[in-house]
Amino acid sequence: MDDLSFSNLLTGKTAIITGGAGGVGSGISRVFGSNGCKVLIVDINAKKLKKIEKELSDSGITVKTCKANLTKTAEMKRAVNFALDCFGHVDILVNCVGGLNTKIGLPFTINNDEDWKLMYELNFKSMWGMSREVMPHMVKRKYGKIISLSSVAPIWNSINSPHYTVFKGGINHLTKTLAKEYAKYNIAVNSICPGYLWTDLWQNLGTQLKEKAESSPKMASMLKLKLKKGKISAFEVFKQRTIATTPMGIEQMPEDIGNLACFLASDKARYITGQVICVDGGATL
Ligand SMILES: NC(=O)c1ccc[n+]([C@@H]2O[C@H](COP(=O)([O-])OP(=O)(O)OC[C@H]3O[C@@H](n4cnc5c(N)ncnc54)[C@H](O)[C@@H]3O)[C@@H](O)[C@H]2O)c1
Repeated sequence: MDDLSFSNLLTGKTAIITGGAGGVGSGISRVFGSNGCKVLIVDINAKKLKKIEKELSDSGITVKTCKANLTKTAEMKRAVNFALDCFGHVDILVNCVGGLNTKIGLPFTINNDEDWKLMYELNFKSMWGMSREVMPHMVKRKYGKIISLSSVAPIWNSINSPHYTVFKGGINHLTKTLAKEYAKYNIAVNSICPGYLWTDLWQNLGTQLKEKAESSPKMASMLKLKLKKGKISAFEVFKQRTIATTPMGIEQMPEDIGNLACFLASDKARYITGQVICVDGGATL
């Protein structure tokens, strides 16, 4: 009989986790490693890479790291080649690079060409570029799992940063087209839409929303934020928005995303492809 248990789901597998030194990515790396997967974490931040590498290797996980800027095609190629040198093959790619490396784009008219370019490269090019680099290798082996981090933003058409919303929506569409094209090679492609997590991304977003809300009562009401004596902290912004938008009323943890990613990356999910799945405490209901 097949193994019906849910332990060590990724034994013998290898994964590239991009942005794996960040908040969500490190949660995914922990869950993958704890389930027997060998992981290569690719990230632009050397300091954070060192930290997660030590944490994982101290707990007995096979982990390699690679510093790379995944908005650049040559760096993507180098990262995939490094994974092949380290492990001989790549079973799983998790595209977790992303974020808001520009100002909040509300109202729409303040977004300049540079904002759109930055957000395209960080949130969408990093995803399609890495998928393109790893695909020929997966096709050759007739095996592969690609999981990409999207967001609830395109599901509820968030107006705070239209470029972020659009490029995360692009991830969901490309997930479906890749799933359709590559299903015959036994390659599954899925995306995950998290709700709110208190990571570096949200600290930056919270600080920007705080400044907007404090700039005028009209803006605070547009953002549905309650100020105390005209002030609010970035974490309070995060908390108020989490409670206001999430039926479960609590924030999520990186490992909540890691658990779904681990299942999708495992052979238990062999018949699941082209899906966009929210892990959001009911926020998109
Ligand atoms: N935090 C949330 O509330 C939330 C919600 C929905 C979706 N997401 C998505 O989850 C993913 C991870 O976000 P996070 O909250 O962990 O943010 P984070 O900032 O903690 O992690 C992002 C990681 O990507 C790395 N990175 C940035 N630019 C890079 C580049 N050019 N090349 C290589 N690495 C680069 C950063 O160093 C960082 O380690 C993102 O795609 C984000 O859009 C996050």
